[in-house]
Amino acid sequence: MISLLPLPQSVSFSDGLFVLRAGMAVEACTELERVATWLTTAVGRAGVPLTPVSAGEESRANRAVGVRLTVAEDLPAEAYRLDVDANGIGISGGDEAGVFYGAQALLQLLPERVFRSAAVADVESMSVPFSQIRDEPRFGWRGVLLDVARHFMPKHDLLRFIDLMAMHRLNLLHLHLTDDQGWRVEIVSRPRLTEIGGWRVESQVGPPPHSPANGRPHGGFYTQDDIREIVAYARQRFIEIVPEIDIPGHSRAAIAAYPELGIGVGDDASATPAPAVATTWGVHAEVLNLEDSTVQFFRDVFTEIMDLFPSAYIGLGGDECPTDLWREDARTQELMRARGIATEDGAREWFVEQIAEHIIARGRRPYGWDELLEGTPPPGTVVASWRGMRGALAGVRRGYDVVACPDDKAYLDYRQSDDPDEPIPFGALLSLRDTYSFEPIPADATPEEARRVLGGQANLWTEHMDSPRTVDYYAYPRLCAIAEVLWSRRRATFEAFSARLDDHLRRLDALGVEYRRPTGPLPWQRRPEVEGQPLTAEQHAEHVAALVSGIAV
Ligand code: ACM
Repeated sequence: MISLLPLPQSVSFSDGLFVLRAGMAVEACTELERVATWLTTAVGRAGVPLTPVSAGEESRANRAVGVRLTVAEDLPAEAYRLDVDANGIGISGGDEAGVFYGAQALLQLLPERVFRSAAVADVESMSVPFSQIRDEPRFGWRGVLLDVARHFMPKHDLLRFIDLMAMHRLNLLHLHLTDDQGWRVEIVSRPRLTEIGGWRVESQVGPPPHSPANGRPHGGFYTQDDIREIVAYARQRFIEIVPEIDIPGHSRAAIAAYPELGIGVGDDASATPAPAVATTWGVHAEVLNLEDSTVQFFRDVFTEIMDLFPSAYIGLGGDECPTDLWREDARTQELMRARGIATEDGAREWFVEQIAEHIIARGRRPYGWDELLEGTPPPGTVVASWRGMRGALAGVRRGYDVVACPDDKAYLDYRQSDDPDEPIPFGALLSLRDTYSFEPIPADATPEEARRVLGGQANLWTEHMDSPRTVDYYAYPRLCAIAEVLWSRRRATFEAFSARLDDHLRRLDALGVEYRRPTGPLPWQRRPEVEGQPLTAEQHAEHVAALVSGIAV
């Protein structure tokens, strides 16, 4: 029996095998040429060269057709049907994406060597069991956040990350591009953002505040052409990239590059030296000031970002914004009075609103963290509920679309087990079983409110992931569980999921993914030299409850 992951809506196998042989055709209409090429490349490099042909083309008469790709009017977007019988393999989708997901399912019906980049056996065929699959995703937002600010992910590794997402039918990559510790996207009109903000002199190794630094510079950024390439590559795999520029907190890299964006410079430049790009983790005090010139600076940044990323959603962060510097700064207090802003929390709302309106004016939707619900973000804003599910419930009740990424189910930087050998054990325990129990619809939501849950996402914050190898370890296999939660209309038991996952891990082995073994970290995946900061479930719940008290439900 073949294990499919994510679990399809329905699947049945019958006796018999279709043999997909070298030289067979993959027949597709023009609309499906991209998917045909993708499938032909995937199977071809693993040793079974196929030939894409246009439906109706003369030359197909000379070839046996192995795979037929079609668009089916009766299927919704992203849905697919896959039928394998003695006549061959048929994949129909409600749209191009649906056919692509059917092609991804087909790869899982083939021997796992199809996931290798070159042939490992001298066999120019692969057999496929007779089968019928009917499938359609549960949510339209099947996301993962990758924090490339804390640790930069080089472009070629990011492309691989996107391929792994596509394999799991995740369709949205939330790229966290800026933070206190780094600015990772070229902004042509403000070059110092990457010249200065794109690197730091060293990095803390372990949780803040006391872990030591490593004395080693870290940096990197994507040029605008890199971004265009990454966006196009993702789009070919039906993945939308949602960029995030985090404001008005988490902005120290920007302030290091352009000190006039921060507090305590300008007329009073001698009072506070400009900060350097942060080398330690945790929430930093530096925030953007409220000058018109600072708002204009970020309007210009967001204009370039919107030109680069065609996504319907544009992330502006809004989380974890300390207000102490605003409170203590005479110029900020003066600006607040002039703008009719009564409180420092109101100042954060005001800044976010300036940028949100700019995003809306360009026909996009602002996307931010659940702190936005401590104020009243503009209609159309999408809210990511991260401090548990309170933001998701509050958001849908107030008429906002929401994305669920509660930290206790979806924060993949949290430790995967109680094993003291877990590398840099941090946060609450978030086992594979815990991720599989993630439910994106808030328990108390009415059916109408539930429709405002666009879906969910896993978040990969990378303070403790200093290489793509480490990202593999934290992401997999927990991301397999979250992908299934977001895709599948049926929820299996954890035991049934685990049994399928055992087979799926062979695919990840073929791809070279350095996932966490069910038995725990391999010796070289441990970090015995770094002390962690694990929290018990109670400590964690208390911490989150205090954080979200500002959101009324
Ligand atoms: C967050 O984890 N600060 C969104």
